[in-house]
Amino acid sequence: MSATAPTIQIAPSILSADFAALGRDIAAVERGGADLIHVDVMDGHFVPNITIGPPVVRAVKRIATKPLDVHLMIEEPDRYIDDFVAAGANMISVHVEAVPHLHRTIGYIKKLGARAGAVLNPSTPAVLLEDIARDLDYVLVMSVNPGFGGQAFIPHSIEKLRRVRAVLDAAGSSAAIEIDGGVDEGNVADIVAAGATILVAGNAIFGGGDAEAATRSLRQAALGAVQGAGPRR
Ligand code: DX5
Ligand code: ZN
Repeated sequence: MSATAPTIQIAPSILSADFAALGRDIAAVERGGADLIHVDVMDGHFVPNITIGPPVVRAVKRIATKPLDVHLMIEEPDRYIDDFVAAGANMISVHVEAVPHLHRTIGYIKKLGARAGAVLNPSTPAVLLEDIARDLDYVLVMSVNPGFGGQAFIPHSIEKLRRVRAVLDAAGSSAAIEIDGGVDEGNVADIVAAGATILVAGNAIFGGGDAEAATRSLRQAALGAVQGAGPRR
């Protein structure tokens, strides 16, 4: 069974970290076993909130030991891909709702040497991925409406994960599925069973005061889910 169990990756979202102590908080989640550092970039247009840009990504890159997973929630993301890769992004995801030429954008991210992902908002159907599935390194399924940390997980996202996996499988794509929004120890079993292997969590990790322990606990809950679920791709 272990030969076929998926590798779960924990990706703490620094949106919920202490921005005045990012180095301390990133070190804590890395001690706790984080696999990726999830960076939420918001522009106040595509989503209501404004967060961080390439200078902060560059600073985080100096202290993080794990790859940076940059989630662009911005209009016209094509204008900024070079800057984020130069700043140290290892993974870049763009919203399908924000780019008219997704095939070109995904190809450009990969050409620059980063892993490329497509993001679906909660209301965006999985079938939109049919003709890009084989080009993707990963799909990010939003399980909240993007813009803020600490929102409640939208239950329909479980069904959405299954639909995305089915679309990817039908296209012959081995792209991983990442889930983002409202993930916690209570829902991670269902999330993993539905096909997600990259788990983003902000509030569940940074909201309780011990980010190291929370990272470890989330992985334990996810691994328990994998063992309980039996063999999966
Ligand atoms: C939401 C962001 C998420 C968010 C997750 O727009 O994309 O990455 O920080 O935070 P939680 O886990 O608190 O929902
Ligand atoms: Zn995110």
